[in-house]
Amino acid sequence: MSEIESLSARALADIAAANDPEALEALRVGLLGKQGSITGQLKRLGALPAEERKAAGEAINRVRDAVGQALAERRSLLEAAALDARLAGEAIDTTLPGRQAHRGGIHPVSRTLERIAEIFGRLGYELADGPEIEDDWHNFEALNFPPHHPARAMHDTFYLPPDAAGVARLLRTHTSGVQVRYMADLVAAGRTPPLRMIAAGKVYRSDSDQTHSPMFHQVEGLLVDEHATFADLKGTLAEFVRAFFGRDFQMRFRPSYFPFVEPGAEVDIAWQQPDGGTRWLEVLGCGMVHPNVLRNCGIDPERYTGFAFGLGVERFAMLRYGVNDLRAFFENDVRFLRQFA
Ligand code: DAH
Repeated sequence: MSEIESLSARALADIAAANDPEALEALRVGLLGKQGSITGQLKRLGALPAEERKAAGEAINRVRDAVGQALAERRSLLEAAALDARLAGEAIDTTLPGRQAHRGGIHPVSRTLERIAEIFGRLGYELADGPEIEDDWHNFEALNFPPHHPARAMHDTFYLPPDAAGVARLLRTHTSGVQVRYMADLVAAGRTPPLRMIAAGKVYRSDSDQTHSPMFHQVEGLLVDEHATFADLKGTLAEFVRAFFGRDFQMRFRPSYFPFVEPGAEVDIAWQQPDGGTRWLEVLGCGMVHPNVLRNCGIDPERYTGFAFGLGVERFAMLRYGVNDLRAFFENDVRFLRQFA
């Protein structure tokens, strides 16, 4: 075997045995670099006798090309292997169960509120809003509760010290004050009845037991028109109860007193008992808007009449969902809340 042939055989064997890019690069430099052995062979061609030069030159070139190709092939093989190894290391196990996404739900009280607002929306009532920190005028005085009126006693709440302008504020005890705001705003905007509004939101009372919590939700309704009557009120509430529970109920309007209505009533519905009997359950308060309230809002009570009603949202939620302790709505126990999701 000639020198160039044995050089070639050794080089190809070394390349085949090289296991990383660095070893391969060292081999390339040793063979084809400036000081490389194959390069050295080419350099020595000139020293050969002229008749041997051509054949020797061709042989060296062949070896140089073969070695160059072997280096390139080995390099891409090593690179592919390295990539495979990296991909294998980073592989994602798609058979692992994913992290569970917890799906929330609408709170039963919000759900009930939405349902009530939706029913009155269909009856043409506009949704209105008022502040939870209310002033004495809107919560009491304009609603015909004079300063020391005994009816205020049922509305104990948190009272804040008067502000710089002398306005005493409190956590509102009912949503009835929104009636006053709505009517006064309407008049201030230069409009006149007819009007239909409902308001929904949180109210506060010094009450706490199985059926009362210091914070609860009310929905207030108000209609004012030229010929609104108590019959319209009864029809509206009957329609609402039917839409809310999905069936008719026997209803009872029991005379009652609220300073801002005259006459006023509490409404009971005949609720089916597990033993087959029925029981009267109080569900809301209502009445014909007192002339003083209309007057306080700038509406002429000689021309317009109206009716109003107020209901406790938790009470309706309890009846609809069969919940017997109101406090469950506010304990944030997911075992309870999940049932409504
Ligand atoms: N605001 C009353 C309460 O919280 C409920 C009520 C009664 C509202 C009669 C009304 C009404 O609009 O006409 O006890």
